[in-house]
Amino acid sequence: MNHDFVEKNIGKMLVMIVIAISFGGLVEIVPLFFLKETTEPIDGLMPLTALQLEGRDIYIREGCNNCHSQMIRPLRAETERYGHYSVAGEFVYDHPHLWGSKRTGPDIARVGQRYSDDWHRAHLRDPRSVVPESNMPAYPWLFDNSLSGDDTAKKMSVLRTLGVPYTELDITGAKSAVSGKMEVDALIAYLQNLGILLKHKR
Ligand code: HEC
Repeated sequence: MNHDFVEKNIGKMLVMIVIAISFGGLVEIVPLFFLKETTEPIDGLMPLTALQLEGRDIYIREGCNNCHSQMIRPLRAETERYGHYSVAGEFVYDHPHLWGSKRTGPDIARVGQRYSDDWHRAHLRDPRSVVPESNMPAYPWLFDNSLSGDDTAKKMSVLRTLGVPYTELDITGAKSAVSGKMEVDALIAYLQNLGILLKHKR
């Protein structure tokens, strides 16, 4: 074979490299869009309730995902500590995903129902009151702010266009399910639902 063609011309070499890499990428990535295992929800997966959805938005607003991942890798050290590794079907209703990779704090993909609501309240108000060595910030304002619920229905209809199966009833009831609730309660409702479907499997 005459390799001079690419080896002596950096421009052609670059074009060939790009073709080679994109072919590798396509072969690895495209099939994932057609595999049932990666596109279908796991058994029992429900869209977040209106209150949990608002809690998720608070989680994003407060940047919790800068310190906490939601992705347990299929490695012994991780499954021993956190429980069953994360599977794609748990996240099909998540827009955007909050997998993350930065772990200043522990992964919280399966933190749901690990602690009581009271524990979360104490922890969010003052993390060091329950975990003395914690460097997690305190979030006292979550206890003062209440939710109006004005945008909740709109958020749910947008999610529905992305494939989240909210019903008409979910959407019309959204405002009354949320309005007047405290931000901390929404956030805890979200946290208590995280990863519970595969929680007890190893
Ligand atoms: C600066 C990094 C940082 C940020 C930001 C942060 N955390 Fe944490 N978080 C930690 C650390 C470190 C721990 C472990 C010590 C502890 O439990 O407080 C932790 C622990 C936790 C735990 C207990 C996990 C377990 O399995 O024991 C929960 C739940 C939690 N954080 C939720 C949140 C939420 C919700 C937010 C946003 C409102 C948040 N964190 C923001 C660092 C952070």
